[in-house]
Amino acid sequence: MEEFLSAMQHRFACKRFADTPIPPDLLEAILACGRLSPSSFGLEGWHFQVMASSEVRQKLFEACFSQEPVGTAPISIVITVRTSHAYHPEGAFVRQRGERFPGSLEDYIADYRGYYDFLNESGRTDCWSRSQGYIAAANMMTGAASVGIQSCAIEGFDETQVLALLGLDRQNWQVALVIAFGYPAEPERPKIREPLHELVSYF
Ligand SMILES: Cc1cc2nc3c(=O)[nH]c(=O)nc-3n(C[C@H](O)[C@H](O)[C@H](O)COP(=O)(O)O)c2cc1C
Repeated sequence: MEEFLSAMQHRFACKRFADTPIPPDLLEAILACGRLSPSSFGLEGWHFQVMASSEVRQKLFEACFSQEPVGTAPISIVITVRTSHAYHPEGAFVRQRGERFPGSLEDYIADYRGYYDFLNESGRTDCWSRSQGYIAAANMMTGAASVGIQSCAIEGFDETQVLALLGLDRQNWQVALVIAFGYPAEPERPKIREPLHELVSYF
């Protein structure tokens, strides 16, 4: 816990990165933090798009309203997530995911269907899908910080441009978050946080 909290404490939204590449094994470890993240019904509706070449990074920078973290980061990861179309209980995606779990696929789908209907009827499926991506993002950012790699979550992007850059169809995919990763070229910024007693209630 101490090590984990230390990574949390020292992660900060880094705006300017050094021109130092992220070693491939550490990049893979960051991606593994995303992969191991929990998702609703274990559906893993995400995909991690590693933006590494200078050409795609330049285009991503422009799609992110020329924000400095994306402009200076040696790697950015775009977390894309499926749209509501993919989540139909009878669809190929849900079946493929469901088949991996112990127990019968029919039981998995019967269990999932009620929640799917609830989400769908309240028009929340796309938002629910996007929120899964944020969990993976948080784990990747904390994991990176544990080895001295900083990050900046970027919600300021033009989704149409990012999807076009990735060659993805907005019928099927949406962008949850862009995350810039790298070694910081600026000092760590101290945490500004409300005290726990303001944020926590016990019942
Ligand atoms: C979902 C999300 C979206 C964010 N979008 C941006 C952004 O577009 N541009 C930016 O410079 N910072 C962005 N940030 C960084 C936050 O401003 C920053 O995390 C917050 O001020 C707390 O600071 P800290 O991360 O250094 O503790 C974003 C953070 C989160 C969690």
